[in-house]
Amino acid sequence: MPHKIVSKTRISEDVFTADVETPLIARAARPGQFVIIAINTEYSERIPLTIAGADAEKGTIRLIWQRVGKTTSELSDMKTGDCISNIAGPLGKPTHIQNFGTVVCVGGGIGNAPLLPIAKALKEAGSKIISILGARTKPLLILENEFAEISDELIITTDDGSYGRKALVTEPLKEICRRQPKPNQVFVIGPAIMMKFCCDVTKQFDVPTQVSLNTIMVDGTGMCGGCRIEFDGKPKFVCVDGPEFDGHKVNFDLMMKRLGAYKEAEQKAHEMYKEHQCKIGLDKTMDDGRGTKDE
Ligand code: FAD
Ligand code: FES
Ligand code: MG
Repeated sequence: MPHKIVSKTRISEDVFTADVETPLIARAARPGQFVIIAINTEYSERIPLTIAGADAEKGTIRLIWQRVGKTTSELSDMKTGDCISNIAGPLGKPTHIQNFGTVVCVGGGIGNAPLLPIAKALKEAGSKIISILGARTKPLLILENEFAEISDELIITTDDGSYGRKALVTEPLKEICRRQPKPNQVFVIGPAIMMKFCCDVTKQFDVPTQVSLNTIMVDGTGMCGGCRIEFDGKPKFVCVDGPEFDGHKVNFDLMMKRLGAYKEAEQKAHEMYKEHQCKIGLDKTMDDGRGTKDE
């Protein structure tokens, strides 16, 4: 069934958001869950995207994605009114929400998108929220205002010092873990390397830490094995056993190795897509700063 894009905007250099019609998923979605989309069922690859918000009344879900390769570029080139052929979901286990006491929510880059609904739900459950949002540089920082609304304390870091504190997110995280009393729970969502180093910090202080893993996925139902990770020495499938796990038990080195397995083919597909868009004169989004067809 085709799913109409009812609105689409660009929220930072390479990050876009869209509300997409999908009434059944909008009604069932809970924080922490994701969908798998196929832009065109005839030839598209399937990619997972987190449900960054859901409006049961309007029958829409909010997707936020970063343009990193062929399929996310193709999605970025779509405009309001266009349809995504297939959306499967909600997939994955929802986040366990409760009043944990003090919770530190650490987001890196596009990781802020999946983190937002979780942080909102934790706040509604009564937790005190300390948010740490990290980006390479200011233009890549997303959802600052939304986090400001729900956070008791908000810390921004950039790698280059262009905004907030010039630091990696691990620096303020370590300082907060040293506070007395220490935080009760940490959630981290971002690049695998960031989640690994955040978990190294929280392990030293014995603070329970949940991470949401972004492995390669194909079917999203536990059948293909693409999303396999090593957890506590045993295999787990991120699509059905996760995407959230106790970060202290994840083998991040193995996960990162598996994430890079198709780099060459992914780069080739992206180059071919860009070349094709240039030839047919549709290349409005590729690095020329003019934005999407909606803008
Ligand atoms: P490619 O050039 O094909 O790949 C770029 C990189 O993305 C790869 O090196 C690999 O690390 C990863 N990737 C490639 N194919 C897949 C795949 N089929 N499944 C997963 N990762 C892949 N990104 C967002 O921008 N917003 C989100 O809300 C979001 N939520 C996610 C939720 C989950 C549960 C998972 C597992 C991933 C999520 N991602 C999200 C990552 C997103 O799926 C990838 O960025 C996307 O698949 C890249 O596709 P591409 O063809 O544009 O890039
Ligand atoms: Fe195929 Fe998880 S995506 S087993
Ligand atoms: Mg791809």
